[in-house]
Amino acid sequence: MNAESRLSMPVGEAIFTQRAIRRLKPDPIPESDLRDVLEAATRAPSGGNSQPWHFIVVRDAALRQKFGPLYREAWWAKRADSGYHSPEDLPPAYRAAMRLADEIGASPVIVLLCATAKGPGPMGSVIPAAQNLLLAARALGIGGTITTLHAQVEDRVHAMFGIPETAQIVYCLPLGYPRGRFGPAKRKPVSEVCSYDNWDNAFS
Ligand SMILES: Cc1cc2nc3c(=O)[nH]c(=O)nc-3n(C[C@H](O)[C@H](O)[C@H](O)COP(=O)(O)O)c2cc1C
Repeated sequence: MNAESRLSMPVGEAIFTQRAIRRLKPDPIPESDLRDVLEAATRAPSGGNSQPWHFIVVRDAALRQKFGPLYREAWWAKRADSGYHSPEDLPPAYRAAMRLADEIGASPVIVLLCATAKGPGPMGSVIPAAQNLLLAARALGIGGTITTLHAQVEDRVHAMFGIPETAQIVYCLPLGYPRGRFGPAKRKPVSEVCSYDNWDNAFS
């Protein structure tokens, strides 16, 4: 059976039950499932079909543990950029992400979704792959979420994973089986965010 047949969850179910899963069980993800998820990621569209992506699938426990504090540092550097310097400063909406910043090293798999060149073009071309990856993971009962790093840790993360200077890390995706449940996700109604033909033409 190939990845296409194994990813048989109806697309509607995958899309409408996918949400950010940050609390992950330590159980390992079978290699065949990881491969299916990556096959799905590499089916995404990209500018001129340039496919400027490289996925580093971090499974090694020692590496994940070593990466954890760097991720935490990056997460707090992003908060500091917004004026938050301690857990007491943070609005409640940040709590789950803050916990992930403490626990990410224990995720069974961390995927570093990289662009093979710097700049907004290559970056934009790898973003659809992240969503393909997460939807395929959802279809296999695997959760995760998109996260970003921070320039403050960039050189050290590049060195840790042998990422060339010419490449950029776009997202860092922890993956694992959820401790909680999948979706539904809370989103604005279509009527609020869509219009026909002109921005001001209400979509009813
Ligand atoms: C570009 C981008 C950056 C994100 N960065 C982080 C992050 O650093 N840490 C985190 O825990 N979640 C991060 N998220 C996940 C979002 O917080 C999440 O998708 C959003 O709150 C919706 O969550 P829901 O699907 O559970 O409703 C990011 C998502 C995107 C698209």
